[in-house]
Amino acid sequence: MNSLLPLLGDGAEYGVKLSYLVQEKQLGLAHAVGVTREFVGDEPFCVYLGDNIFQDPMESLLRDFPTGNADCEIALIEVPDPSRFGVAEVENGKIKQLVEKPKEPKSNLAIAGVYLFRSSIFESIGRITPSGRGELEITDAIQDLVTSGKTVRPYTLKGWWIDAGKPDSIIQANQLVLSELPYSPKHEIGSVVQGNSDVSSRVLIGENSQIIDSVIRGPVIIGKNVTIRNSFVGPYTSIGDNVTIENSEIDASIVMTNCQIRSIPGRIDSSLIADNSMVISAVHVPAAHRLILAENSFVQL
Ligand code: G1P
Repeated sequence: MNSLLPLLGDGAEYGVKLSYLVQEKQLGLAHAVGVTREFVGDEPFCVYLGDNIFQDPMESLLRDFPTGNADCEIALIEVPDPSRFGVAEVENGKIKQLVEKPKEPKSNLAIAGVYLFRSSIFESIGRITPSGRGELEITDAIQDLVTSGKTVRPYTLKGWWIDAGKPDSIIQANQLVLSELPYSPKHEIGSVVQGNSDVSSRVLIGENSQIIDSVIRGPVIIGKNVTIRNSFVGPYTSIGDNVTIENSEIDASIVMTNCQIRSIPGRIDSSLIADNSMVISAVHVPAAHRLILAENSFVQL
């Protein structure tokens, strides 16, 4: 549990109080929800899958559910490839049937990763059995609510939704999020932007970061304690805290915290570079790359 704490801490920074419950065994989403039974008690609650990113803030859904009469509300969105998801069949504004990753889907409505529940879901979780992939599926538990005659309502999502569990979709999500970065003026040369630099509008730069002899074209977000020297950072790039980029070009990419990118020949494009990665090249031998990368990193040079 302690390993999770540095991620978001106790929530004070965000004005909320965070508690952490650990699912000791990975037995499926319904099992994970079941772990919260005592913590949740009789309160209505929301389950949000951490790898889902939504454009829709779902304000009405979150505001109205606690005082409404539905036992469950699920977020649905039309997709071209429903077989990859839980799929819902809707009739007269009510959920008729839900199937997890059906081979022959009866609709193109995918279940996205936001669910509103009451304590009735815990009884349904107690009744289901593991699926073909050996997991207790939350989709099956919600289907059990439907079968037991409870009211399960669909909420139609607005805007884009990304199930960002894979590198390509994380990079895509980054682009969609940055495309909504509001206007901020171009940076003037001073203590942050130094030397022969050009930093466009829609570039956010964190505390103690410096841009030296570099070009940054927004939308770009740069974290704290970052040094960018003699480099080009192109649109739709997010750079985490404590990163150094020197003599390199990078575009439409994500660089997480504590990374170093130095003297890379050519442009790093549409890349995902995880925490503590070093991407360093000997400029005089451009064919040879030496990469020491953190677990689960993906670097395409
Ligand atoms: C889970 C759910 C699935 C839902 C999806 C949304 O799938 O089981 O019903 O459509 O999240 O991201 P998983 O990511 O476990 O494959």
